[in-house]
Amino acid sequence: DVELADPTPTLDDLRVIKSDAEVALIQQSSDIASDAHIDAMRATLPGIAEWEIQSVIEAAFTARESCWAYQSIVGGGDNATILHYKSNSDRIAEGDLVLVDAGCEVSGYASDITRTWPVSGSFSEPQREIYELVLKAQLESIESCQAGNPWTSMHHAGSRVLAQGLIELGVLDCSLDEALGDDFDGPFRDFFMHGTGHMLGLDVHDVGGGRQGDDGPERLLEPGMVLTVEPGLYFGSWRNDLKVPERYSGIGVRIEDDVLVTTEGPVVLTSSCPKTIKEIEALVELIKEKSFIGVMSHLANADKAEYESNKAQLSRFREIVAKLDPALALSIANSGGILNIPESHFEWVRPGIMLYGGSPSPRSDKRLKAGMTLTAPVISIN
Ligand code: GLY
Ligand code: MN
Ligand code: MN
Repeated sequence: DVELADPTPTLDDLRVIKSDAEVALIQQSSDIASDAHIDAMRATLPGIAEWEIQSVIEAAFTARESCWAYQSIVGGGDNATILHYKSNSDRIAEGDLVLVDAGCEVSGYASDITRTWPVSGSFSEPQREIYELVLKAQLESIESCQAGNPWTSMHHAGSRVLAQGLIELGVLDCSLDEALGDDFDGPFRDFFMHGTGHMLGLDVHDVGGGRQGDDGPERLLEPGMVLTVEPGLYFGSWRNDLKVPERYSGIGVRIEDDVLVTTEGPVVLTSSCPKTIKEIEALVELIKEKSFIGVMSHLANADKAEYESNKAQLSRFREIVAKLDPALALSIANSGGILNIPESHFEWVRPGIMLYGGSPSPRSDKRLKAGMTLTAPVISIN
């Protein structure tokens, strides 16, 4: 007699606890994905398109001999409030946030990172309030990823922070118990409608018992498990099933890291990817210099009549120049698109970067092209 049995549970179980070699590959994958998010932050300009950010991210994967682990999600403004949005087909308006959920694969092992940042370089007050709340929930959830804790403890820990924060921000008008509901299914779920994480490994949503929604007893966390921690808050202006507070309408924020459970506590494998407001703003801060190049280039290419007719722009140009640290100064020769850019700016000057222009359109259609000449800094305004 031969007895047949489904090997899936046994194989799944083998995949849940990662060996040191597997952890090393996930770490490598996490490092590449972190670098890719940093590249994307540095390349972000107001008016940039979702597909342009996607291309920076995926170029970074490819350049490091990797590839995407799942279709990259790049959602600007309201699109960030659509879970698993992946058409990446809109331009992002100045002042909006962009949510980027993108991870890669190394020898089959996935990483899965989400970061959310302002395309203009600084968070508005409402954006800041929501971002800080999600970050606080995420840190609390990560802290609860301790061996021996039930799988769901991270979801519960983060949910408590989010629900309490939504009450304090005036989004929910009820007690914490009411906001959380009997089974963490209360009204806070209107704004946080997904799980806090999943196993990560050979698949981005990896196998393993104890995932939320799985049947069977709740699994306890053990050293060697790798999971994502990804709380978020979403205030889609398109929601017609509930009242979205005006102040937060169109804001979607998720912060996602990959975490290894160890006997010494949680280890964040994606810790090289910045996530504090200060770090993120400092990275996207380069935006000001980038905008400056655009203004310069626009004026450099304008003819005399346009110069004269656009006094406002000219005076803004002079204003920027007056504030410039000479060491960072750059100028654009007024002939034939020759750009004079100091060495400190070279790292982000690459073919394809779109120049930020002046009126009438907030964007020019000019892009840096291979073959343009970059020379030493010279300031010349004539
Ligand atoms: N990128 C899919 C997820 O975060 O689960
Ligand atoms: Mn995930
Ligand atoms: Mn993700």
